[in-house]
Amino acid sequence: MADKNDTMEKLVSLSKRRGFVFPGSEIYGGLANSWDLGPLGAQLSKNLKDDWWKTFVETRQDMVGIDGSIIMNPKVWEASGHVATFHDPLVEDVKTHKRYRADHLLEEALGIEAGGMSLEELGKIIKEKGVKSPDGNELTAPKNFSGMFQTTIGPIQEEGNVVYLRPETAQAIFVNFKNVLETSRKRLPFGIAQIGKAFRNEITPGNFIFRVLEFEQMEVEYFVEEDEWKPIFEEWAIFMEAWAKKIGLDLEKVSRLEVTGKELAHYSKRTIDFEFDFPFGRKELWGLAYRTNHDLSAHMEHSKQSLEYVDPNDQSRKIVPHVIEPSLGVGRTMLALMLSAYTEEEVGDDSRVVMKFPYHLAPYKIAVLPLSKKDELVEPSQKIVDELTNHWNVEFDVTQSIGKRYRRQDEIGTPFCVTVDFDTLEDGAVTVRDRDTMEQERIKIEELVKYFESKLN
Ligand code: GLY
Repeated sequence: MADKNDTMEKLVSLSKRRGFVFPGSEIYGGLANSWDLGPLGAQLSKNLKDDWWKTFVETRQDMVGIDGSIIMNPKVWEASGHVATFHDPLVEDVKTHKRYRADHLLEEALGIEAGGMSLEELGKIIKEKGVKSPDGNELTAPKNFSGMFQTTIGPIQEEGNVVYLRPETAQAIFVNFKNVLETSRKRLPFGIAQIGKAFRNEITPGNFIFRVLEFEQMEVEYFVEEDEWKPIFEEWAIFMEAWAKKIGLDLEKVSRLEVTGKELAHYSKRTIDFEFDFPFGRKELWGLAYRTNHDLSAHMEHSKQSLEYVDPNDQSRKIVPHVIEPSLGVGRTMLALMLSAYTEEEVGDDSRVVMKFPYHLAPYKIAVLPLSKKDELVEPSQKIVDELTNHWNVEFDVTQSIGKRYRRQDEIGTPFCVTVDFDTLEDGAVTVRDRDTMEQERIKIEELVKYFESKLN
């Protein structure tokens, strides 16, 4: 069995070797904490997002989706409170100039809960307890470090044209609330979903694709009457857990954490973190927050536009809806999925690594493998590929021994391999190998589509 401590190392290596995740800008020596998705990672991430969209939007009559801009009017971030409050306490090692989050350093050094402490509180504890940097040097006093990336519009960098890369997708939903309400004609309770990139200037990113500067979110803002938020919050918690099961996360590693006190985000009255037991510790995977009507009210105040909802049963009743927010990161979900799927098995005297992805998420569903590179096998194999690709994502692989090709498909999680051999030329049948059981059965070529429909659809 895989040792917990080296699982991450093995996964990072497999990701690079097989084409799931590559270090970003690698030919230039990389860029710290940036990662690029390779062919298999891009497909896995797409399959995950497609399934999320289908589950959270298409199968629900109370949901619609949007696709908002990354760069928005900077007033959005003043209204949302991000300009004033979206920052982390930073300290610097006076010798190495390495930067750290002061609250994280205290948590590690003293084992205390320091999240949400003021700069003064953090500075006082660092001084009193003589906390040093991990390299043993003095630290500067803590100061605020904005989590938002800034850039400028236009050729001249000057005040007045500063904009931000969005730190959350949520705000595009709030500022479009009225547009969506009017065009979709939804009634409370209803939700708006969005998948898109968000950016955070993290002081201490790390742990592979877990904490990165640039990441993709899948968020829902679900609008409700104030007095109905509690049961709907619980319904969403259950809905999210059901999705964790559907995408094959190891449920024994998923738990709920009630976020309290100063750990709560500035907009939240209640938050549950769904945590996952990663090899580097139990960490936040997804969040579910009750944002009250903080955001819509703030945008009404700053934009001077009405974002009220008129009760269809009583036109004189106008309310500013309250919001439940299920917020999920694509990268973290993909990491939890890959860790859940990663399996090492003994096979006779040998061993194999299998990524046991649920079929619907596997990058390739089928690999077609002619036993030899000879045209007499490659040509019928190509015909099979042409037929199957009308239905599924199929890989065609002619290189290396069949044993090595099976191992490769196991490592990338392909549910089925189709082997075309010299008997195929006689009996018009192929060998289908099952990824998980490794059992093989002989199937007629003309029955392959029906066979896979029964297995994959
Ligand atoms: N919208 C919640 C978050 O980005 O964490």
